[in-house]
Amino acid sequence: MEYYPGTGRNHLFVPGPSNIPEKVQQAMARNNEDHRSPAFPKFSKSLLEDVKQIFKSKISTSFIFPSTGTGAWEISLTNTLSPGDKILTFRSGQFGVLWIRMMQRLKLDVDVVDSEWGTGVDLGILKKKLDEDSDFAIKALCIIHNETSTGVTNDLAAIRGILDAYKHPALLLVDGISSIGALDFRMDEWKVDVAITGSQKALGLPTGLGIVCASPKAIEASKTSKSIRAYFDWADYLEFYKVGSYWPYTPSGQLLYGLRAALDLILEEGVDNVIKRHHRLGHATRLAVRAWGLQLCTKKEEWYSDTVTAVRVPSHINSGDVVRLAWKKYDLSLGVGLNEVAGKVFRIGHLGFINELQVLAALVGVEMTLRDVGYPVKLGSGVAAAAAYLQHSTPFIASRL
Ligand SMILES: Cc1ncc(COP(=O)(O)O)c(C=O)c1O
Repeated sequence: MEYYPGTGRNHLFVPGPSNIPEKVQQAMARNNEDHRSPAFPKFSKSLLEDVKQIFKSKISTSFIFPSTGTGAWEISLTNTLSPGDKILTFRSGQFGVLWIRMMQRLKLDVDVVDSEWGTGVDLGILKKKLDEDSDFAIKALCIIHNETSTGVTNDLAAIRGILDAYKHPALLLVDGISSIGALDFRMDEWKVDVAITGSQKALGLPTGLGIVCASPKAIEASKTSKSIRAYFDWADYLEFYKVGSYWPYTPSGQLLYGLRAALDLILEEGVDNVIKRHHRLGHATRLAVRAWGLQLCTKKEEWYSDTVTAVRVPSHINSGDVVRLAWKKYDLSLGVGLNEVAGKVFRIGHLGFINELQVLAALVGVEMTLRDVGYPVKLGSGVAAAAAYLQHSTPFIASRL
């Protein structure tokens, strides 16, 4: 076998961490600075205000925690709930598994609806659960907007509609970690009480910031919630907000300047255009998968995710081999199958700051790899299907008109 040292760029197509744009990298290459200087609050305030545009929220309070998404899960639960509180949630993917494990460790009383991996929230079961809850024992409904392990996006508008139809007062806590900043997300309109994301996904930053928005109802709930919390208590932030200084401890200036640059890029493109771009890339990827004759892990079109495509491989192929080989030979990083779908699924992440040609490059890399592992895909078949669609759907670059 021939080896060569590898050159050019890694094609990073895992569903987070995502590619960090050059402008963001440059913005982060700086010295430390005094976060208690008179200039810092103005800068921090601009971040706290502008992240809310990504969440489509005017009425919530935003927090930027030093954390990963997992910490943001904990923030959402411990600030609003008390041990023993009843939570309703759904499990059909790895991030559901992990969030539920945390809920149980926090001694919350979790009612879990299990369903096949690749499916989303069953709205019929949600209605049935609310039918059975006439005394409003359920204190929170926890939903993963985009289940990254299976490529499933849940219909939050429909879920909110059902809660409203039952006039149910439960808090709506949403994991938007692989959706916010990439998929249609409307915090105020859907009356989401706590929404969270992580910096390494659609925002194209390094891992390290857990961004949380809390509705007025969630802030109210935190005043009586009895879960033990210390470092992740948002009350500490609220105290600092009163005096115009924005962190109770030392924030990473580099990450915050990176966040500023990422927000500038997203706001310049326009949040709705960013969402449309993700739809184009997601749709193009799904067209390629269809042309290869492969199935998605996602069971129904209504759940198709525009940030990650989970592809099922035929049973004689191990999807882990696809991921390993793509990386070893073509410098293409794909997502592995997790837990129940390990070996059966590989994932193509298409979120954050990427464009049409980058996705086409990844698709050709997948085609070559599939042939390498013994799946007889016709070279160019998926790329042709995706390109035919992208050629007609890609808009001009606004600044170059
Ligand atoms: C939907 C979802 N929730 C939670 C997490 C956990 O986030 P982190 O790895 O940043 O702790 C992830 C990570 O991929 C995710 O995709």
